[in-house]
Amino acid sequence: MFRLSLGHARPGLVVARSIYHANGTLLLGQDIELDNRLIARLTQLGVDSVYVKNPYFEIEPVEVLSEKTRVETVRLTHKAFEAYRKSGTLNVSDLQRATKMLVEDVIDNRNVLIHLTDIRAHDDYTFGHSINTCVLAAMIGVKLQLKEAQLKELALGVLLHDIGKTIIPAEVLNKKTPLTPEEWQQIQGHSSTGFELLRKQGTIPLMSAHVALQHHEFFDGTGYPRGLAGEDIHRYARIAAIADLYDAITSDRPYRLAMLPHEAYEVVLGSRGNKLDPAITDVFLENVALFPVGTMVLLDTGEIGVVTAIHPGMQARPVVKVVLDKFCKKITDQDKTIDLTKELTKFIVKVFKPEEIAAFGLTGASGASA
Ligand SMILES: [Fe+2]
Repeated sequence: MFRLSLGHARPGLVVARSIYHANGTLLLGQDIELDNRLIARLTQLGVDSVYVKNPYFEIEPVEVLSEKTRVETVRLTHKAFEAYRKSGTLNVSDLQRATKMLVEDVIDNRNVLIHLTDIRAHDDYTFGHSINTCVLAAMIGVKLQLKEAQLKELALGVLLHDIGKTIIPAEVLNKKTPLTPEEWQQIQGHSSTGFELLRKQGTIPLMSAHVALQHHEFFDGTGYPRGLAGEDIHRYARIAAIADLYDAITSDRPYRLAMLPHEAYEVVLGSRGNKLDPAITDVFLENVALFPVGTMVLLDTGEIGVVTAIHPGMQARPVVKVVLDKFCKKITDQDKTIDLTKELTKFIVKVFKPEEIAAFGLTGASGASA
């Protein structure tokens, strides 16, 4: 399956993962075939992406969160954020329940490579980004062998790291044209205002609140609000900075399209030691999935396949099941699998974006040109 923005969804594609409203209500069940009416209805409901089945090869990606945890985390966080927007009071116990479930799943799946279990199905960017970043930060924390209590503090802080943005007008947050100096100032103020908002809550641990305050501090001292450097920045905030960057660049934004994981890897590597803590970045880069299971790739042989497995420590050379030959004809031989750790002369030359895969399914194999 793959995740597709609703704008690229076409009739005939089959829903691979049930779609829930952020309040936990089921909107559309798994295995339902999309038609124009359903696509229009989902758009109307504010759903902006959907998981659909790969028309060439069905493979279940390894998930770090169970469906129950994902739906419940989204529901509890959405409820708390909505109540906060209305009353200015955070339901900390709901958020603690959400982060507890999330951290327990991440600990149970500690050997899963870091990848985005994208919960984002709704048009509220800050909300989706907060949960995605929280999952990524917890995964990094597990790889750094933080204790469970530390992971919960970290997760709560990261879930609320952008809470200061809730008081910034949406026109400023989603502006497609360059920001004025005043608007920049308003956006940059979100880390300090977030910290103040959280400190007023009383029940938020101080170190969690510091994630909100420090997540835009850079390792080399060029960040904001205080220009802290190195280990003067709390470890949780140094973890949050990596997760924040990775989710931001792998998501569609009003001003640019999402990067693929292997492209995002290069950006994180380029920030190692300047914006980001080099030691934590190394742990992240060693454990991040470059070509997550389910990714469709073009090999230098001209064949197109789906990543079916990844060897730990060899993320650049996954196992690929070939689904289309070099003439873009569907392979009927079920055993055409290439292990790139064994066939060293072969390599990946292109990764297909979800919308390209959807187009294959609609136009037939002839649409599968590089
Ligand atoms: Fe932020």
